[in-house]
Amino acid sequence: MLSLKTQQAMPFITEEELENLLPFMATAHKQLESGTGPGAEYSGWYHVPEINAEEELKRIETVAARLRESSDIFLVLGIGGSYLGARAVIEACNHHFTTLLNKSQRGAPLVLFAGHQLSEDYLAELCDILADYDVSLNVVSKSGTTTETAIAFRILRSFMEKKYSPEELKQRIVVTTDANKGALRSYANEAGVDSFVVPDDIGGRYSVLSAVGLLPIAVAGINIRDLLDGATWAYEKYLKFDPAEVNDCVRYTQTRHILAQRGYLLEMMVNYEPSMTMFTEWWKQLFGESEGKNGRGLFPAGANFTTDLHSLGQYIQEGRRILFETSILFKTSQRELKVPQQEDNSDQLNYLAGMSLHEVNQTAAVGTSLAHVRGGVPNISLEVSKRSPASIGALIYFFEKACALSGYLDAINPFDQPGVEAYKKNMFALLGKPGFENLRAKLVEELNR
Ligand code: PA5
Repeated sequence: MLSLKTQQAMPFITEEELENLLPFMATAHKQLESGTGPGAEYSGWYHVPEINAEEELKRIETVAARLRESSDIFLVLGIGGSYLGARAVIEACNHHFTTLLNKSQRGAPLVLFAGHQLSEDYLAELCDILADYDVSLNVVSKSGTTTETAIAFRILRSFMEKKYSPEELKQRIVVTTDANKGALRSYANEAGVDSFVVPDDIGGRYSVLSAVGLLPIAVAGINIRDLLDGATWAYEKYLKFDPAEVNDCVRYTQTRHILAQRGYLLEMMVNYEPSMTMFTEWWKQLFGESEGKNGRGLFPAGANFTTDLHSLGQYIQEGRRILFETSILFKTSQRELKVPQQEDNSDQLNYLAGMSLHEVNQTAAVGTSLAHVRGGVPNISLEVSKRSPASIGALIYFFEKACALSGYLDAINPFDQPGVEAYKKNMFALLGKPGFENLRAKLVEELNR
């Protein structure tokens, strides 16, 4: 399903460096596997088959089927790990023009997202659109207090309360939050709406394979069993650490670690499929929040090729030599579209006649990586059999495990995100949240200086 190629990174590092890193990799692997590394209490995502009980999966499918049936639009409210995974999988697997299909063509409601920023215009225009449709929503927040999501929920809940009777509302609002505590748990208990649990031992950015991601993904009509099967395939494939036969997940971790030590400080995830754009966003959060601490970590960036070859391509080829690429390459496309023969050949493209667009895309990828390697950009690639829920599940697990291993190699806790609090505290203080008066006074003084 997945196969890693690192040949085009090898001109920039040595076999000896990879070899020398192996004992450290072994320790990192052992820490993760035995649950003894920093933040191990958040490694509940590690054993994929144990993330969801069968009963829970069936309940997700049942609630999803009801929401699919009753809704034209399904809203997912969440931010960071409480939304990126679901959006990544839905966009990777869905029709590109799903917004233009009607419900019977789609076989599912249109899934829209909110609560992941604070734009007034976005939310106001969303409310305008919703007026004419049957709507249901899933608010996802482990803490239940994340401002962006809480404000969106307050606004959309009041919209829903005006549109539906209290009884119908119970069928249309679903909460995913902590099992016992927080504002959303209290709301779910009091309102009597369906609720799911963000497992205690899984942090937001590692939660896509729990109810956090699975409910929205199932509502979108994507087979969550296939997604989990793919993740289980990767779990089994990369389970063992064998220094004599290093698996792809370990090899990826080693390679990027040594590239970082060599001064390649920015990892650019490259895809050649526009439907993978949000997958890159999920990956950026996974690695950014997990690795970026104590003044360390690679900066995770993303590019959509060949589109961005006409914007970032010049920099990648000839700018500062600080980046390397990790490309996701699908071996097959889901559809077939060949370049037609044209009698007048006015566009000089007859040399491509009969070739599928996927072959042209693949050739562009080969040409691009050769050019970039020659320009001094190391290239790692992950070949993926096809774009499907199973392969996306496998990719999710591949990167989750690599990310946790990378964190342990870097001697940091890959499961916390203390730095995210800084902006929140300032925002609360400036907005006048009770309890933040002293910070507010300091910030106001700083602003007036
Ligand atoms: O990875 C994480 O833990 C974060 O990105 C959170 O998912 C994000 O901050 C949202 O938090 P919450 O689910 O508490 O609203």
